[in-house]
Amino acid sequence: MPDDNELTVLVVDDEADIRDVTAMAIADAGYRVETAADGRQGIERCRTIRPQIVVTDVRMPGLDGIQLLEAIKTFDPLIEVVVVTAFGEVDIAIQALQRDASDFITKPINHDALMMALQRAAGRHLTRRQLVEYTAQLEHTVEDQARILHQDKMMSLGRLAASVVHEINNPLSGILNYCRLMLKILQRGSAGQGDLERFQGYLRLVESETDRCSQIVSGLLAFSRKSPPRFEAVDIADLLEKCLRLSRHKMALTNIDPVRQIDAGLPPVRGDFNQLQQCVINLVFNAIDAMPEGGRITIAARRGADPGRVTVSVGDTGIGIAPENRARIFEPFFTTKQTGHGTGLGLSTVFGIIDRHGGSVSVHSRPGEGATFSLDLPVSTEGSGAG
Ligand SMILES: Nc1ncnc2c1ncn2[C@@H]1O[C@H](COP(=O)(O)OP(=O)(O)OP(=O)(O)O)[C@@H](O)[C@H]1O
Ligand SMILES: [Mg+2]
Repeated sequence: MPDDNELTVLVVDDEADIRDVTAMAIADAGYRVETAADGRQGIERCRTIRPQIVVTDVRMPGLDGIQLLEAIKTFDPLIEVVVVTAFGEVDIAIQALQRDASDFITKPINHDALMMALQRAAGRHLTRRQLVEYTAQLEHTVEDQARILHQDKMMSLGRLAASVVHEINNPLSGILNYCRLMLKILQRGSAGQGDLERFQGYLRLVESETDRCSQIVSGLLAFSRKSPPRFEAVDIADLLEKCLRLSRHKMALTNIDPVRQIDAGLPPVRGDFNQLQQCVINLVFNAIDAMPEGGRITIAARRGADPGRVTVSVGDTGIGIAPENRARIFEPFFTTKQTGHGTGLGLSTVFGIIDRHGGSVSVHSRPGEGATFSLDLPVSTEGSGAG
């Protein structure tokens, strides 16, 4: 008796009495049964009733059983086909199995042999269907993850852009002022030696401020690039400096002091620079959000207890995490922030990225005493330091 009583079996035989007896036996065993009188009709019925199993005679006028089997497998490889051969037609049975028939039985049909073939076919069908569904589900999960990753990145990008715009605005107005001043002096037509010396000073400022703007913009551009993940040797100190530069303005706005505790001479980590940067930025933003009244963010990097690992951590002196939320903070869309302030994607993205890096994420927090998130990452075995 099959587990799934929804299974439909199509019996194809040109001899009416054999067809009816077979159909009756199958129906008695609890399957739904349909019949067809030849190969053509068999294909037709497969299209309309979509059986899970077909039991077909091999010798039929017109389209024979092997041809029907081929047609069915082209139409839907998940349909299981049991072929019925005459006693001694071993070659035909082999042909059938080569074309992915699930089984063969010989005429005159023995009841037990038929039931066994049906059970095997039913089992095979279910397993294959589960496999197809499982694969589809996996593909779906991968797609979901990619979507969340991108969505989170766009959110971070928006926040970064907003804070970077301020950061660029100040140097730009400085540059503008120096340029105007120099133009005014030049327009008077009387620039003396003293003026030229002052101009040099102004131009040096213009140069360094322009350089600062350009670094901020390239940092932002690099972050926004939709690049396929690329694993390489990543210099953690460089990565953390870039994260700090991108979030400096946001911290300054809320009276937050960044503290660096980055060990010298850390080995490079194996990872995707852009994705790891997205992780650290997410942790820094969370830390900033946890300290509306200001505080201290400690960005640290040190060799792990295992020499093959490097631990990067972002700690804050903020509100901390309530014990009841602790288990949920990595879930996608879990947020304790007001509507419009958090999507709840940050930490799930961090988790996904670090997991794909073969690393792990941990958190220590006491309510009211801040939180520290640590990323444990594998050291690059490429041996080269990253630039
Ligand atoms: N440093 C932290 N201190 C206190 N709570 C935190 C900290 N980091 C995360 N949390 C808690 O974990 C929740 C989930 O964080 P997550 O980054 O996934 O989402 P979010 O910050 O709410 O929204 P999003 O990052 O998508 O804007 C937060 O809403 C907050 O409750
Ligand atoms: Mg967040």
